Amino acid sequence: MKNYSIFYKKGGFKYSTQTVDVHLSMVNSFSPLQGKVLDAPSGLGEWTYGLERRGCEVTSSDICPEGLGITWDLEQYNPSWEGKFDLVFSRGISHLHRRDIPTSYEKVVKNLSRYAPRILIIYYTNQTNEGPNSHFNPTKKSLDDLHQLYLPSWNLRSTVKNHYYIGELTQCTLV
Ligand SMILES: C[S@@+](CC[C@H](N)C(=O)[O-])C[C@H]1O[C@@H](n2cnc3c(N)ncnc32)[C@H](O)[C@@H]1O
Repeated sequence: MKNYSIFYKKGGFKYSTQTVDVHLSMVNSFSPLQGKVLDAPSGLGEWTYGLERRGCEVTSSDICPEGLGITWDLEQYNPSWEGKFDLVFSRGISHLHRRDIPTSYEKVVKNLSRYAPRILIIYYTNQTNEGPNSHFNPTKKSLDDLHQLYLPSWNLRSTVKNHYYIGELTQCTLV
C-alpha cells in the first residue's frame, strides 16, 4: 500500500487543474489555505501546484521517490521541519483510512503536529456505506481517537463536503 511507485510511473492520478482548483476552494471555505504549507503525502504534486496557484509557499514530500519534492516516510520525525510551517495539508493519507493495515498512524499524526500548528486531513468518503470497509468511518474514527489519545490539547473540527471528509486539527494557544 505504501508503494505507489508503479502507479506513479504509469502516470498516477488524473486530476484536471479545474478539479484541483474547485476542490481546494471547497477546502478553503472550511479552513483557509495560506502561508507556508507542507503538502504530505504529495503524490505527483497536483495539490502542491494547486496550493501554489492559491499563493501558498509549499514544500512537498512523499515516501515514493517518484513523488514531488522530498522523499520522506511520514512515520519518521523530520527535525528540519519542526515548527517550519503554518499548515500541513495531508490529502489521502491511507494510514487514517485503512485501520486493517498494521501501521503506526499515530506516529504520523504526532509527527505532523510538530511541523505546524494546523493540520488538514482530507480523505474521500462514501457516506452511503458506513460499514467496516468504507472510507468514512475508519477515517473519522481514527482522527477522533488520535485526537483524544495523543493531541487532547488540540481542537478538532470536521466536515463532509462533496464526498470528502475534512478534519482540521488546530493547536490551542495558551493565553
Ligand atoms: C492516496 S495517495 C494521495 C496522494 C495525494 N495527496 C493525493 O491526494 O492525490 C497516498 C500517498 O501516500 C503516500 N504514502 C504512503 N505511506 C506513506 C508514508 N509512510 N510516508 C509518506 N508518504 C506515504 C503514497 O506514496 C501516496 O503517494
